[in-house]
Amino acid sequence: MNIAIVGTGYVGLVTGACFAEVGHNVICVDCDEAKVKLLQGGGIPIFEPGLEEMVKKNVAEGRLIFTASTAEGVEKSDVVFIAVPTPPLGDGSVDLSFIERVARDIADATTTYKVVVDKSTVPVKTGEKVAETIKRYCKVDCDFDVVSNPEFLREGFAVEDLMNPDRIVVGTRSDKPVAAMREIYEPFNAPIIFTDINSAELIKHAANSFLAMKISYINAVAAICEATGANVEEVATGIGMDERIGRRFLNASLGFGGSCFPKDLSAFIRISDDLGYDFGLLKKVQEINAAQMDRFLKKITDTLWILKDKTIGVLGLAFKQNTDDVRMSPAIEVCQRLLKGGATLRVHDPKAMEKARELLPTEGVTYVDDMDSVAEGCDAIVVATEWPQFKELDLAKAREAMTSPILFDGRNLFDPAEMDQLGFTYKSIGR
Ligand code: UDX
Repeated sequence: MNIAIVGTGYVGLVTGACFAEVGHNVICVDCDEAKVKLLQGGGIPIFEPGLEEMVKKNVAEGRLIFTASTAEGVEKSDVVFIAVPTPPLGDGSVDLSFIERVARDIADATTTYKVVVDKSTVPVKTGEKVAETIKRYCKVDCDFDVVSNPEFLREGFAVEDLMNPDRIVVGTRSDKPVAAMREIYEPFNAPIIFTDINSAELIKHAANSFLAMKISYINAVAAICEATGANVEEVATGIGMDERIGRRFLNASLGFGGSCFPKDLSAFIRISDDLGYDFGLLKKVQEINAAQMDRFLKKITDTLWILKDKTIGVLGLAFKQNTDDVRMSPAIEVCQRLLKGGATLRVHDPKAMEKARELLPTEGVTYVDDMDSVAEGCDAIVVATEWPQFKELDLAKAREAMTSPILFDGRNLFDPAEMDQLGFTYKSIGR
């Protein structure tokens, strides 16, 4: 199948690479010429495990090319995927102007039947607008179909998730694009759910909101555990063994972040409001998430009392493990709030230090390359991201290097009993 993917962000680039990997011919389009040049020269603009190798291999084998021209992408393809950003606007809604722009560019270049697939996360009913736009701006009277095909990949596991999906969701108004969608996804050996466009769009927002709800639920339970001496991890294991609930996404933390959950929750609440339904449950999910961060910071200030002139080591800047993405990262919020209180930071992240520099002030932050050196002269350490390698931290050495051995674990990476034995004042989440 000849496929164009417009937008080479996390979703577009990984989708393009994986489609090429299973044998399709893929042309990835991006309006950012510098990014296209970088990709054409063998560079990768994001860190995602396994992606670089996969892109290089498929470029070398001639199945994956890059261009800045949407027209070229459309001309060379039967199916055109839209994978451009839908960034949040201040009022909870999302900016759909990139989607509209691409729909117009596709309309401009279309002369024969095309299947236009929306992969960007969009509010329900966007597919209808995309179809209207293409129809309005298409210069010739040619046939096309719009399909909604939401993506469920997690950053840091994007290649793995895309190559081994739980399910593929395809929303379409007619049967005509069904064969093409089947052909594209057949090599992935996953169940395909064919539905209408509005349902497909809703599946994405409903899935992400549900997962965010699971995290806020366990974080609320963590607060009860702290008040009672119960252990949230044992509670999560106990409830997660019920197959109807499941253990995944029940890891108590300092709160969820990233470019998806906060944005998708706000968008779903806003869409529901616009449709006349007050989705109070999801508003509470947001509130619990914000309160979780406040509770975590309160633990720090209750223990350290005054932040001014304290040196605090921060392990983790990315919004979660396995990524260099710092958008809406709880770790960045922790840093900003500690700095605001007058603390000086020594920070480390295996991948996200470069991107964090763009968000954190230059004053008061020292970037430390080696995680074992973060502790030097610190009054406390904060674990803010669940990178598994932080578990290998030389705790005895860290204790020696610190002014006072205090560790705030926002990801429950360490064992409370062991920390106690090592002589740390140790505060984690719900334990
Ligand atoms: C999410 C969805 O998982 C994915 O299906 C969708 O396509 C995009 O949005 P992503 O944003 O990459 O993916 O990250 P995810 O792994 O879901 O984590 C989101 C946030 O929740 C992170 O900050 C993570 O640390 C936090 N989290 C996750 C928890 O605090 N506890 C958990 O149990 C799981």
